[in-house]
Amino acid sequence: MKPIIAANWKMHKTAAETTEFCRAIRKEESAFSGVETLVCPPFTALAAASAALKSSHIKLGAQNMDYESRGARTGEIAAFMLLEFGVEYVIIGHSERRHQMGEDDDLVRRKIETALGAGLKPILCVGETEAEREQGSTEQVIKKQLSGALEGTEAQHISSLVVAYEPVWAIGTGKAASPEDAENAAALIRGYLQDRFGSVSAAGTRIQYGGSVKAENIGSFVSLPPVQGALVGGASLEADSFSALLKAAGEAVAN
Ligand code: 13P
Repeated sequence: MKPIIAANWKMHKTAAETTEFCRAIRKEESAFSGVETLVCPPFTALAAASAALKSSHIKLGAQNMDYESRGARTGEIAAFMLLEFGVEYVIIGHSERRHQMGEDDDLVRRKIETALGAGLKPILCVGETEAEREQGSTEQVIKKQLSGALEGTEAQHISSLVVAYEPVWAIGTGKAASPEDAENAAALIRGYLQDRFGSVSAAGTRIQYGGSVKAENIGSFVSLPPVQGALVGGASLEADSFSALLKAAGEAVAN
């Protein structure tokens, strides 16, 4: 199973900038064929990304979606609208949405259920805040987020799921988790999935680390046995830095 490295652009890039980025990164893609690569542009740039990545191995993800399939939901985006652009993955429960937009575990659960039902692969984000870490409640927080999000999910769907461990204190701070912290959290997530869904089903779920990942430190995360990829914010915004990161990940995995 290839590691999965996803670019989460958050609220950055126009459609024109997206086209430019995708064209640049495509030229390099043979250098990181050992890694499954994914870009998650804002909704308004999905069409541009989809066109620019046509017949490339680089896949497309969305940063969010609604839990309803369609209807009177002003401002929301449904799964079928993402599928129209060839979107394969969707980030759900990112800490910025949990903390800034008030998304709770139940909303995250409904989105996961809808995404899986529509044939999209959710990237479920979990992770503790700095205060929770200081209180020693990291494990408890991760388990609560997992059980809340995956209540009702059937084992047959679990290999489509990616779980991203993103400690909130490491996001955009330049202060990445230590490989040891990332390894412990990923092992905890893997253990939870095995207990809940059985080890055969859980073996198909990839676990990413996210939080201040860059070309210089990606190798120390993807070479950890329980970690199979990364969710990257800041370092994914420039084609040069993202392709350097992808190449470093590919090299680390090959060794
Ligand atoms: P940074 O890589 O900028 O820390 O962001 C991580 C993140 O939130 C990816 O979803």
